[in-house]
Amino acid sequence: MTAHAGTEALGGLRWTPSLSVGDAVLDAQHRELFRRAAEVIASAERGDGQVAGAIEFLHEYAAAHFGVEEDLMVQHGFPGLVRHRAEHARFIEDLLELSDAHDRGGQEARVSVRLAAWLAEWMVRHVAATDTELGRWLAARGVSGGE
Ligand SMILES: [Fe+2]
Ligand SMILES: [Fe+2]
Repeated sequence: MTAHAGTEALGGLRWTPSLSVGDAVLDAQHRELFRRAAEVIASAERGDGQVAGAIEFLHEYAAAHFGVEEDLMVQHGFPGLVRHRAEHARFIEDLLELSDAHDRGGQEARVSVRLAAWLAEWMVRHVAATDTELGRWLAARGVSGGE
């Protein structure tokens, strides 16, 4: 019961204003990213066979969003570029690996719980720490993630 309640909480993963990085465009993209991640988690919890599709839907948006952030970092000479970009690359790698593990089945329930926990934790940690550092740096230079 406790574990179930825990995974339900993960399914409720959502962007909140406390996760704002101080840039309206990046915040809007994070909101969409969280929405898609929550769908992956909900699908994994339901065991509805739609996880692979939900992961692809998240992967697509994550890749585009990471590209926006990386372009901003390159364009403005952000000093933390290498480390930030490595976090993005690792995320995509791990996401696809978990997707493969999920597809192979077998330990499906275990993979789903691991996927949900990892995804929720990564999203919050990356946005709250790494992206916030970038957002503050851009804001201090009067740069918007917009255009
Ligand atoms: Fe981000
Ligand atoms: Fe990022």
